[in-house]
Amino acid sequence: MAGTGLFAEILDGEVYKYYADGEWKTSSSGKSVAIMNPATRKTQYKVQACTQEEVNAVMELAKSAQKSWAKTPLWKRAELLHKAAAILKDNKAPMAESLVKEIAKPAKDSVTEVVRSGDLISYCAEEGVRILGEGKFLLSDSFPGNDRTKYCLTSKIPLGVVLAIPPFNYPVNLAVSKIAPALIAGNSLVLKPPTQGAVSCLHMVHCFHLAGFPKGLISCITGKGSEIGDFLTMHPAVNCISFTGGDTGISISKKAGMIPLQMELGGKDACIVLDDADLDLVASNIIKGGFSYSGQRCTAVKVVLVMESVADELVEKVKAKVAKLTVGPPEENSDITAVVSESSANFIEGLVMDAKEKGATFCQEYKREGNLIWPLLLDNVRPDMRIAWEEPFGPVVPVLRINSVEEGINHCNASNFGLQGCVFTKDINKAILISDAMETGTVQINSAPARGPDHFPFQGLKDSGIGSQGVTNSINLMTKVKTTVINLPTPSYSMGDGFISRL
Ligand code: G3H
Repeated sequence: MAGTGLFAEILDGEVYKYYADGEWKTSSSGKSVAIMNPATRKTQYKVQACTQEEVNAVMELAKSAQKSWAKTPLWKRAELLHKAAAILKDNKAPMAESLVKEIAKPAKDSVTEVVRSGDLISYCAEEGVRILGEGKFLLSDSFPGNDRTKYCLTSKIPLGVVLAIPPFNYPVNLAVSKIAPALIAGNSLVLKPPTQGAVSCLHMVHCFHLAGFPKGLISCITGKGSEIGDFLTMHPAVNCISFTGGDTGISISKKAGMIPLQMELGGKDACIVLDDADLDLVASNIIKGGFSYSGQRCTAVKVVLVMESVADELVEKVKAKVAKLTVGPPEENSDITAVVSESSANFIEGLVMDAKEKGATFCQEYKREGNLIWPLLLDNVRPDMRIAWEEPFGPVVPVLRINSVEEGINHCNASNFGLQGCVFTKDINKAILISDAMETGTVQINSAPARGPDHFPFQGLKDSGIGSQGVTNSINLMTKVKTTVINLPTPSYSMGDGFISRL
């Protein structure tokens, strides 16, 4: 159970503690932040409302712990990460339980998130040992006008303090996707969890604590974004921000200092369906891509652009599958569970009502109880409807019928987002040409968009983000290149003769 056994020390009465200086602490604010259970709409957990002074204190600790961590051998950093991964996987139950309770993720998917996170940490440890253990060697005479008198050695060095801000929908996985690369690269890490998802994050941080990382190297600060959000992101001690979430990321990037940013923001992932596509495959992928975790994934299928000639048949197939989706509590592994908050549910409802007023075809009756919205397929959506452009982050999938592939590509490219997209066709040549034409960070051919496997590069164009993720790219983003140039008094060549006479 969450907050018991191995995890008992992270709880103070009914309020979860924050983590600083290698210890679990109660905030001097005396205040807490309530976390609502999206399904019951009652307070499920409470976390500390940390103060700006407490942020200052963890930043000082992070700066000093990083200096010795950078001198810790790479193999040793990897060893500790492997240990944290094992502890995490051995203790998946309490984390999965808190994911169910605070973000209404179905129970099975919650376990998968924790296991996937352990695997990510281990992969990151191995990849870090490989890519950080090697550098480049350059010779000057490859550039015009130079003799071979300069040897240039490059290596990757840490940035310093990395601030990680994961989103509510993957609080554990998208936290470790930032923490593990930061640590293996020799950085220290300050984590600000999302409010919904904070308790899962605190359990995950305790696994790193139990693994034995040095004091101060990792901190986890909870609290209200309105009180400590800007203070954290604009803090002078922060040398890199890795953020996943909504358009808050755009304002963070405008306010942040001259530091590397890794931002994964929204998406309006288009699914282009050609007339030669395997429609059963497309229908299964629309269900998986559009409705898993009730559509609350930045990579969800958020608009289907289908050729008119096959649209009726596809809509019938998807409708039949939607009818089989179960709706209910996350504890029962329902396919569709409550969305994260009442304001999200209201936003989704606004998009649905706008589509209704403008004449979209409802393939199911619209139904909502509290934060629970039944899965909905909207056919005959037109570009003048909000749902054609805005991301519902809920279990609603719009279908726009197109008369040419160009129309589909143009719709995809007219979006301010550019995260992923997908194309379904049996013609691989067409698929590649369409992929090249789509202005998105990734295009999936014959499958729904998805971030994983977690070592694949993952990036958004336009308002969908800055920088690339995936284990290797994250490690690289959280380092900078350092070069040392050895200047020789005279050109020198391997196996060359006569060097004595040139000295
Ligand atoms: O919500 C954003 C996540 O990065 C999506 O990850 O494709 O594994 O669901 P996913």
